[in-house]
Amino acid sequence: MDISRIEWSDEFKLGLPAIDAEHKDLLEACNQFIEAARANAPIGTLAGILENMILRTRAHFVAEERMLDRHDYPGLLAHKAEHDRLLAQAETLKARYQDVSQEDELRNLTGETATFLQTWLLDHIRTNDRPYRPYLMNLA
Ligand SMILES: [Fe+2]
Ligand SMILES: [Fe+2]
Repeated sequence: MDISRIEWSDEFKLGLPAIDAEHKDLLEACNQFIEAARANAPIGTLAGILENMILRTRAHFVAEERMLDRHDYPGLLAHKAEHDRLLAQAETLKARYQDVSQEDELRNLTGETATFLQTWLLDHIRTNDRPYRPYLMNLA
């Protein structure tokens, strides 16, 4: 499977240490899945890693929403809607692991999941998280 690890780069840094640490941790969770996919890991392993990644993502989203709420960030509702949309996409992928019975189905689903994980986090940081940075910095 030609799915490569995602590499962290400083362009993803927001300069808010707690948030940057959580983003790096989520990136590692995505990479765990990508590596298991490349190694053709069994279905239980893949679904377990995905489940863990969703739990960590949900915890990060809640922490981020609380922080934005504390600072009365005007884009909070739209931001939360985007978090909910991403979690729903991840949950939909996870649910499909229950219906897989054939090896080729599993490889297709794994590839689809890895492609999703490769893009969603960095796209979200760039497009949705970055705009709150100057807002929080101005308040500081
Ligand atoms: Fe976010
Ligand atoms: Fe975030």
